[in-house]
Amino acid sequence: MRPNYRFFALYFRWQVACQRTEYYDIIMTKRTKIAKVLSSPEVGQQITVKGWVRTKRASKNVAFVALNDGSTIKNLQVVVSPEQFEEDLITRITTGSCLAVGGRVVESQGSGQNVELEASTIEVYGEADPELYPLQPKKHSLEFLREIAHLRPRTNTFGAIFRIRHAMIFAVHKFFHDKGFVNIHTPIITGSDAEGAGETFRVTTLDPKNPPLTQDGAIDFKEDFFEREANLTVSGQLEGELAALALSEIYTFGPTFRAENSNTSRHLSEFWMIEPEMAFYDINDSMDLGEEMLRFLVNYALEQCADDLDFLEKRALDEEKSKPQAERSEMSLLERLKFVVENDFARITYTEAIDILRNSKPNKKKKFSYLIEGWGSDLQSEHERYLVEKHFKKPVILFDYPKDIKSFYMRMNDDGKTVAAMDILFPGIGEIVGGSQREERYDHLLTRMQEMNIPDKEMWWYLDTRKFGTAPHSGFGLGFERMIQFITGMGNIRDVIPFPRTPGSCEF
Ligand code: 4AD
Ligand code: MG
Repeated sequence: MRPNYRFFALYFRWQVACQRTEYYDIIMTKRTKIAKVLSSPEVGQQITVKGWVRTKRASKNVAFVALNDGSTIKNLQVVVSPEQFEEDLITRITTGSCLAVGGRVVESQGSGQNVELEASTIEVYGEADPELYPLQPKKHSLEFLREIAHLRPRTNTFGAIFRIRHAMIFAVHKFFHDKGFVNIHTPIITGSDAEGAGETFRVTTLDPKNPPLTQDGAIDFKEDFFEREANLTVSGQLEGELAALALSEIYTFGPTFRAENSNTSRHLSEFWMIEPEMAFYDINDSMDLGEEMLRFLVNYALEQCADDLDFLEKRALDEEKSKPQAERSEMSLLERLKFVVENDFARITYTEAIDILRNSKPNKKKKFSYLIEGWGSDLQSEHERYLVEKHFKKPVILFDYPKDIKSFYMRMNDDGKTVAAMDILFPGIGEIVGGSQREERYDHLLTRMQEMNIPDKEMWWYLDTRKFGTAPHSGFGLGFERMIQFITGMGNIRDVIPFPRTPGSCEF
């Protein structure tokens, strides 16, 4: 074969061109992350950093550029000397622009940082017109930032939140992996409604204008893609149970979708859930695991995300100052996190909770929006938060709920009135975990499904596990975003997921 001389010639010319340009260093040196420059600085070293400009302060003699590449909340100060660079280049460096900067690490003259970068080469990868760039170096409201969710990761607050979110994903896997749990991917498209609440998003390829019909005029889903009705999953639990009844201890960590019309600061239409499922665990074992997991996650954040948490702590203190005295929380963010790590959770039955709530001040003075009158009604978030924030002043695990307000799969207690359900309630959040011991007795389960109009024929596979080698087992679901809300102290769940989906909102 003839060698491709043309290719070699081109390559050679490109090399020479690179060496001639001022970009030679930038192209040839590997990028160093700002986190590394700041955490283990080597004064005198030649490096290249790349990132986005947060601010520029320019005077006649010097310009200081604060550069951030997302590897840390801290910025690297870049010192730009007008003697070395053309004025035109310096004016193109504006808030939001993206740069590659080569230079030498030097000890910083100013306060606020140990080292800074003396720029010798600068390439502007992308400019950001100051007239148009929406993120100015000032405080923007969270509501405004939600409208520009495509740019908000470039703020300190969202940088911190998304780094913590990543650390928590890792911590979840570490916790379960170290205990020997097997991670299972449960399906996202399913034919079942695990919670039986009828709040699913349909998955179909039928033409909505002209769907095929059955003889009695209903939509004929036999003609649909899966030849049956299908929806996005609301929970991986049922499939998780199938796996647990073979692998003993499993967990899922996946997206879940709920078409409930809840416009609150704690509900998303698309959220991530961690669902461990354990053979041979009863409800108490499951509560122990839930408590241990939450403590582990909070402790992991305290140990691994200190810089970001310090920033969020200060941010939360600032927010508090703008609130009336009565609404301020008694503990700061870091104090709340340490409190959870250091204290046992309270554990009480639903029935005990109802007694506490019925005799509580806000109930007697009719301050609750939903007054607690008798046994059997579902608790609202105002009740959950009263128990956690006012009565016990610590996380609370409620268990043994009335069967009528809980799902079909929960194990019936001997009283015939309550099921072995448990919810973990957190300060500022309310319910963060929901779970139960599962009904492992075939006859009990079938009866309950029929009573609650759960299509038992379609769910033959779920019932099969109770027919063949059934076993006592339990599990729970942790709402990942609610967990991140607690750890970051963010009041609105829309601010702890990169691109929130809520009723009426699916931008980006
Ligand atoms: O209590 P839930 O509905 O329980 C289940 O889905 C069970 N299948 C879990 C199990 O036993 N394996 O949801 C579990 C948790 C809640 O405690 C809450 O933290 C979170 O998921 N969650 C939501 N988070 C954000 N937006 C929503 N719309 C949520 N609905 C539930
Ligand atoms: Mg629940």
